[in-house]
Amino acid sequence: MSQMESLFTPFMKTFEGYSIGKTLSLLKDPDIISFAGGLPSPDVFPNEFIRAAADRSLREGCREALQYSAVPGEKSLIEAIIDFLGRDGIRLSPENVVITTSGQHGLDLVGRLFLSPGDVIVTDLPTFGGALAAFEMEDPAYASVDIEEDGSNVEGLAAAIEESIERGRKPKFIYVVPDFQNPSGITMSLEKRRAVLALAVKYGLPLVEDSPYRDLRYRGERVPSIFSLDENRGNVIGLYTFSKILCPGLRVGFNIGPAAVVEKFHFIKSANLLNTPKFNQDLCTAFLREYDVEAHFRKSREYYTEKLRFFLGAMEENFPPEMGVTWTKPEGGLFLWVTVPEKIDTAELLRLAIQEKVAFIPGEAFYPKGRVQRNHMRVNFSFPTREQIVEGVKRLSQAVRKMSA
Ligand SMILES: Cc1ncc(COP(=O)(O)O)c(C=O)c1O
Repeated sequence: MSQMESLFTPFMKTFEGYSIGKTLSLLKDPDIISFAGGLPSPDVFPNEFIRAAADRSLREGCREALQYSAVPGEKSLIEAIIDFLGRDGIRLSPENVVITTSGQHGLDLVGRLFLSPGDVIVTDLPTFGGALAAFEMEDPAYASVDIEEDGSNVEGLAAAIEESIERGRKPKFIYVVPDFQNPSGITMSLEKRRAVLALAVKYGLPLVEDSPYRDLRYRGERVPSIFSLDENRGNVIGLYTFSKILCPGLRVGFNIGPAAVVEKFHFIKSANLLNTPKFNQDLCTAFLREYDVEAHFRKSREYYTEKLRFFLGAMEENFPPEMGVTWTKPEGGLFLWVTVPEKIDTAELLRLAIQEKVAFIPGEAFYPKGRVQRNHMRVNFSFPTREQIVEGVKRLSQAVRKMSA
């Protein structure tokens, strides 16, 4: 260990960051068909509109567009977001919104606000790996229960909360991704949204609702957000991002919640990222105010519906029932959750899959330490082309067959 490394904090000496990032760094070979990343397809980015809005912003107001901006975010964007969320039954004032430098930053703000080392977070298993990575910075513990087909196992979570309280550790918040969860693709039913909210209220825990995929529903009825079900009683913190509904490269998102919580988010933001690029915020404002957002969502939904249908077809073809492989059939979002026979460790399977020139994210990335389940994988269906899906799913099936042999 170098002298400098010996000075790292004890936590940082072992911290290895976002495990998905490590998997992605293995995929340099261009012949590998990757179902690993969570990439939206650039085929649906509104490129022409963004180009024109960027051009106009720089022509009309370079001096402002390239300047620092306010820590809470641009007023014009906050107002556009308030109107945008109004269509989803959410009523907000500007003090309920902070602009974040993407969803990952939104998660970081939550972790920093509520967690001290050892504090307990209530989650589904699996849950979003990026959230685990953001929260891990605060060295938390987890009270977690396997997710069910219609979302959180609410009774199980209640028991986990009770158990944690008995051990003298009242949890700090509940974290859920109710719409087409990353990684499982599972959607929480209305009944369960109400029940999880009731649980949060009963135990006085903030309910953190992370919802990047809400507008990417391909079938079934839209289910109200938990934030809207709470009717502004102040029990829910909502996390949103433009990454999946517009494009991820701008790195703009927003957290919503009670004014006192949002004010603290401003303080934390002032100490870590300071501000979100004004130029990028202005492009998001233009998107919400000037673009036909509903038509854009319709186009994205049509595009991804087709990709999902195609991917599911390839799965049916290449994984006959005797292989003992199952997968979720999501109503939206970008991912399928694939379960292989228990004897297969998907981290090992990935090594073999890379030799077969196909990749996915091993399920272990979506479990907190000590709770890892090894026979699952997350596959992304939105980014690969049809040809890549046909070939990639075939290669994946070959890898599973080899591993099962
Ligand atoms: C559930 C969830 N939350 C947050 C994020 C982070 O979003 P961003 O790319 O805007 O940082 C993602 C991205 O994949 C996600 O799936």
